[in-house]
Amino acid sequence: NLPHHVRLVEVGPRDGLQNEKQPISVADKVRLVDELSAAGLGYIEVGSFVSPKWVPQMAGSAEVFAQIQRKPGVVYGALTPNMQGFEAAVAAGVKEVAVFAAASESFSQKNINCSISDSLQRFVPIMDAAKQHGISVRGYVSCVLGCPYEGEVAPEQVASVAAELFAMGCYEVSLGDTIGTGTAGATRRLFEVCAGNIPRDKLGGHFHDTYGQALANVYASLLEGISVFDSSVAGLGGCPYAKGATGNVATEDLLYLLNGLGIDTGIDMDQLITAGQRICNVLGKPNGSRVARAKQL
Ligand code: HMG
Ligand code: MG
Repeated sequence: NLPHHVRLVEVGPRDGLQNEKQPISVADKVRLVDELSAAGLGYIEVGSFVSPKWVPQMAGSAEVFAQIQRKPGVVYGALTPNMQGFEAAVAAGVKEVAVFAAASESFSQKNINCSISDSLQRFVPIMDAAKQHGISVRGYVSCVLGCPYEGEVAPEQVASVAAELFAMGCYEVSLGDTIGTGTAGATRRLFEVCAGNIPRDKLGGHFHDTYGQALANVYASLLEGISVFDSSVAGLGGCPYAKGATGNVATEDLLYLLNGLGIDTGIDMDQLITAGQRICNVLGKPNGSRVARAKQL
């Protein structure tokens, strides 16, 4: 009873690059986004409108938005933690934003410098303004399968934060295994509990691969009827506030899994691999996708 169609949210240009210490030119970021849309990705998270002191790499997000070639039908999203970020996103012509909360108090403090409940309150005016501008808002919950500071996180706690995001108007809530410690059984249990509060087709999975479990967790999620997954081309990434965290599940590897299951995504593998390899060359880093490495031997 696997889903027939899966929607991928490509977070490489944002989650993948936000932690890179070396400067990456706007032109290289723009090229990455445009190659990803050409490969058939329908949703690309382009950048974030956050404090440049906290995440210097995302400081040029407005310029990136100004220079990408918007392909019809493709959603180009951005993270906005507060009204200041939301207004900057609107000024940059962004049509879809994401707010991000955490399931653990310590991570919330370290990541966005406020408590979970304060963060949720900050999102309310964003939701109102977004409605006025006709902007859709996606929600994220971090640390859904473990916190770098607090360890285990109860699924009920995740479900409660996710439900608040959904109730305030997020059209979908992506559950983030920020530090990649989750396993397949815990993932199934998490979605089972969250599905008590939110319909399964409004939930997404966002798996970092730090412990090599991301693809297994995607498969566990598919078995739970989840059909939206965040991934990062070439497995780029990490999180600045989660020490040792590696990138998201590689988009190429996820696509390989889905192709093998006969699940439709509309994405071209070869073009995807080309896009991923090009940004790896720019970064001077090995490709984090196993499929890309195997196919390029
Ligand atoms: P703060 O210091 O508490 O903010 O940071 P503040 O409101 O007190 O303002 C302090 C200064 O920041 C002021 O500047 C503001 O103008 C500026 P100053 O007067 O000192 O020169 N400022 C901003 N500048 C630009 N854009 C803004 C903005 N807001 C304030 N939007 C804040 C609070 C939320 C801003 C900060 O903590 C922050 O930017 N955090 C972002 C952290 C982040 O981007 N983390 C990574 C993304 S989340 C993630 O990766 C997880 C995810 O992938 C899912 C998963 O894996 O679990 C989504
Ligand atoms: Mg992430």
